[in-house]
Amino acid sequence: MTSRKVRQKADTTGMAKADAAGAHTRPSLIERDRAHLWHPYTQMKTAPPPLPIVRGEGVYLYTEDGRRLLDGISSWWVNIHGHCHPRLSQALGAQAKQLEQVIFAGCTHEPAVELAERLIEVLPSGLTRVFYSDNGSTAVEIALKLAHQYWRNLGQAGRRTFITLHYAYHGDTIGAMSVSEQSVFTGAFTPLLFPVTRVDAPYCYRCPLGLERATCRIDCLAGLEGALEQHGESVAAVLVEPMLQAAGGMVVWPSEFLAGVRQLCDRYGTLLIADEVLTGFGRTGRMFASEHASISPDIICLSKALTAGYMPLGATVSTERIFEAFLSDDRTKTFFHGHSFTANPLACAVALASLDLFREDDVLGRVRTLESQLRAGLMPLANLPSVGDVRVIGGVGILELVSDKHTREADGYLDGIGPRLADAFVDRGLLMRPLGNVVYFMPPYVITDDEVDWALERIATVISGISPT
Ligand SMILES: Cc1ncc(COP(=O)(O)O)c(C=O)c1O
Repeated sequence: MTSRKVRQKADTTGMAKADAAGAHTRPSLIERDRAHLWHPYTQMKTAPPPLPIVRGEGVYLYTEDGRRLLDGISSWWVNIHGHCHPRLSQALGAQAKQLEQVIFAGCTHEPAVELAERLIEVLPSGLTRVFYSDNGSTAVEIALKLAHQYWRNLGQAGRRTFITLHYAYHGDTIGAMSVSEQSVFTGAFTPLLFPVTRVDAPYCYRCPLGLERATCRIDCLAGLEGALEQHGESVAAVLVEPMLQAAGGMVVWPSEFLAGVRQLCDRYGTLLIADEVLTGFGRTGRMFASEHASISPDIICLSKALTAGYMPLGATVSTERIFEAFLSDDRTKTFFHGHSFTANPLACAVALASLDLFREDDVLGRVRTLESQLRAGLMPLANLPSVGDVRVIGGVGILELVSDKHTREADGYLDGIGPRLADAFVDRGLLMRPLGNVVYFMPPYVITDDEVDWALERIATVISGISPT
């Protein structure tokens, strides 16, 4: 039975109906959802019913109709310490009794200050000024606005364009869409977007120059160098997702590319913005992906795992040099940006508790063990006819599926194989959300070795069952 059928069955059994005594029971969660909700990235006309989740514990989610699913995507890449972690829940509850929210213009509070202090301790060196917001897209918007106004405040308003990479994804607000790769996500909004210069990403499996990683010299950096040479004087910043370009296809980088980006930004005197919304807080095996190349960006964007998936929170952290360019008696040099929930105390408190867990529990050691297990379990799948490439970094294991191994042909994000595989995984108790032909496993770090084996076995079974077209 497919999961779609399972879900439909659950749907009808949960429908509002009269029992034998004629009393009306409550409609199911799915039914109530269908009456009023509109889901992200979802064609509401044709999408199957959503999974009705009623509870989470550790790596598991539980459905209204009694199923248990292992969360193989950390609930959209945010949950790192497991669902309903007692320490995090306790911190959230305690903060709720103290101070739940306060305006952050003209007020401050302990959780915001302490979180800034603690972030600066663990961030790459030189990042010392924290500007809070409430999600990954806003963290990126703020970085773009900071970079733009930084140059303006310095009297170099001509530096106002951005260089970004192919396959980039930085969020869904207008600025974040502008700097992302143009795709099905952005197509409807093209007239609203500002122009950027896009250059090659180090997508080794689909090398833009047709080279092999074993023998190349990171020649793909030439794209960035050429763009800086041509437009250098007008570039406000280069924006990258260091080491792992996520939503654009889970592209894992050689660290030399990242080192080269930093060098080129220095050489051409422009800013480097690292979007570590996904990669921050251990996902790539280091606290921050920038550490793989021992670099510090000028601005870093954080969100997702910042609160371990408990509360929406974003942080854009800059160098002191950037901050100082906003200090002036001239009011127009002020950074006029803010959000109602800027530095929400509940979110800051749970982020602090998450950092405590990093300190106490060797979380990064756990991610490294997970990485070895993912390598051992996934690499052999490279021999399957439908698997073009296997990539692993930190706590992320990736399979890129192709319809022809020799031509590397694949249909990309809209490949219908993604939803079909998602159904097959759910049937086996595993929550996954392939990006079209790119299947990835990104569980909470607290997953045990046995649970990883269990999940990898199911991934292997499903992928082995794909028949070549
Ligand atoms: C690298 C990166 N930047 C920004 C975002 C946008 O974050 P949010 O969905 O919280 O707006 C995402 C989301 O997936 C992301 O992966």
